[in-house]
Amino acid sequence: MRVVLTSEDKAMLDGKYGKATKKAMEIIVTLGEIYGAERLIPVSSVQIAGVSYHNLGEAGLEYLLEMAEDGQTRVLTTLNPAGMDMDEWKKHGISEEFAVNQQRVVDAFAQMGVVTTCTCTPYLIGNLPHYGEHIAWAESSAVCFANSVIGALTNREGGPSALASALTGKTAEYGLHLQKNREAEVHYEIRAPLHSTDGFGLLGQIIGERTGKAIPLISGIQTATTEQLKSFCASVATYGGVPLFHMEGITPNRTTEPERKEVVTEDNLIAARKALDDEDAEIDFISIGCPHASIKEIAKVAELLKGKKVAEGKTVWITTARPTKDLAIKMGYYDVIEESGAFLVSDACCAVAPLKGRFKGLMTDSAKACFYARGKNKFRTEIRTLDECIEKAIA
Ligand code: F3S
Repeated sequence: MRVVLTSEDKAMLDGKYGKATKKAMEIIVTLGEIYGAERLIPVSSVQIAGVSYHNLGEAGLEYLLEMAEDGQTRVLTTLNPAGMDMDEWKKHGISEEFAVNQQRVVDAFAQMGVVTTCTCTPYLIGNLPHYGEHIAWAESSAVCFANSVIGALTNREGGPSALASALTGKTAEYGLHLQKNREAEVHYEIRAPLHSTDGFGLLGQIIGERTGKAIPLISGIQTATTEQLKSFCASVATYGGVPLFHMEGITPNRTTEPERKEVVTEDNLIAARKALDDEDAEIDFISIGCPHASIKEIAKVAELLKGKKVAEGKTVWITTARPTKDLAIKMGYYDVIEESGAFLVSDACCAVAPLKGRFKGLMTDSAKACFYARGKNKFRTEIRTLDECIEKAIA
């Protein structure tokens, strides 16, 4: 089947709007053909991943520079975390060489009109689609949040395809843009108390590992905060590749009842926590903010650190979006956190910053952060509540 194109789509494909737009349209059309899309549809928002120079390297940067020669965004487009705080990188131990290259990456995006927010929680800082809106997002945790908690519609884009949607304002209509692909495939009944972000992360880990990409319908959870849901999204997307879930009484989408049933018990949660806890972990790094911390989480950290000092030999990163950091500065949270010896790091996170070899053990409230700390940075890990993480930092 061939994708039917409008005259505007064809004009982009023919190069009428320049070579970057042409290349972008070629990517969208090729994806449409591979996945059997009948047409292209407009998107109202884009989130681009693959921003850290640590992951992109010189080849990725070359591609961006080429696209930036004449490419311009057509819709609101924001960026995933970079490998460093774009202003305060020096005091976080980032090298000059890395900083120069990271700046080149962010400059290339800025040249294309991308809002250089550098956060994986764009929905907390103004890139917030509404229910039923078609979007093209690439960050897996944000994709899961957008599809499930907001009720927008997006596939999990890659960095180049998200950029292609930004430059054309279009995506191919397949996958999760079609209602028929958004039904639950397995019903999870949760028979365990869940009160904290780490607990929701562990639940995401269990579901992701048990049924992979299958879309879950989750029942038995009475309440969930935005922070707990973002933790769950990050985890279920990391451990299973789940881009969408339904949570009875909490998320807005409707689904038919799946035949397959699963149960999660308190014992399952205890076992999941154990699996992320390395017995020999020597904790010298504590990080909160995966996904990026909300202002509520930062306020809580500031309350816990007020008048305290981070223990010698420990490094603490609270990672967040730049607009949230600005708000934290205004509210005095930044000063409280930094006076304790912890860092409020914007734009970056503990997974995409070049941290390999700098620490031995990470304590965090995020199951996703544990996954990357182990896999990419070879750190030992322990997962605890936010309060326990800060207790450890000052102990
Ligand atoms: Fe965000 Fe980095 Fe975690 S991109 S979801 S803080 S691994």
